[in-house]
Amino acid sequence: MEQTEVLKPQTLDELIQILHQIFSSDTINVEEVQNIMESYESNPLDWMKYAQFDQYRYTRNLVDHGNGKFNLMILCWGEGHGSSIHDHTDSHCFLKMLQGNLKETLFEWPDKKINEEMVKKSENVLKENQCAYINDSIGLHRVENSSHTESAVSLHLYIPPFDACNTFDQRTGHKNKVTMTFWSKFGNKTPFETALSHENN
Ligand code: SIN
Repeated sequence: MEQTEVLKPQTLDELIQILHQIFSSDTINVEEVQNIMESYESNPLDWMKYAQFDQYRYTRNLVDHGNGKFNLMILCWGEGHGSSIHDHTDSHCFLKMLQGNLKETLFEWPDKKINEEMVKKSENVLKENQCAYINDSIGLHRVENSSHTESAVSLHLYIPPFDACNTFDQRTGHKNKVTMTFWSKFGNKTPFETALSHENN
């Protein structure tokens, strides 16, 4: 069988150009996108202008809005920062590590009629340059920087973009709709920002 060549972006800008090419059509080959994201070797010089941290919770920093087809953003996680359990509003979500490690915990969708502890499906530590993928048919997830000494930086690609999703209470499965905004856009700080951090719930 013929092997398709994996495009290897040398820089973040090259990765962005490739994503624009790929998403000029409406079909998505998850494996191809995951391989391309993974094959970019993280170089802080490419992304440091977007990597803006907050002391209290993770930040969401918009890098590119993909002509309305996708959102590419850099998330910055201080020590102990994490997201709430959440869904992905029927979008595809790729999460590539740029620096440090993040723990991804997958959960089953809760049964709406029953008030009970949510069921964990798996737990995985994502290391530098790895790229994970999730969508709503796979389940829900929570992402955490469980290190007490190292920060982490990740690159998230959402297709199509979304600015609201549901967060879930791990003890009861109850959901809560939240809107998400950006801490910065294209390297410039925005006036208001919210993220799905633990403190929001
Ligand atoms: C995450 O996947 O935990 C981050 C969610 C987000 O704020 O986009």
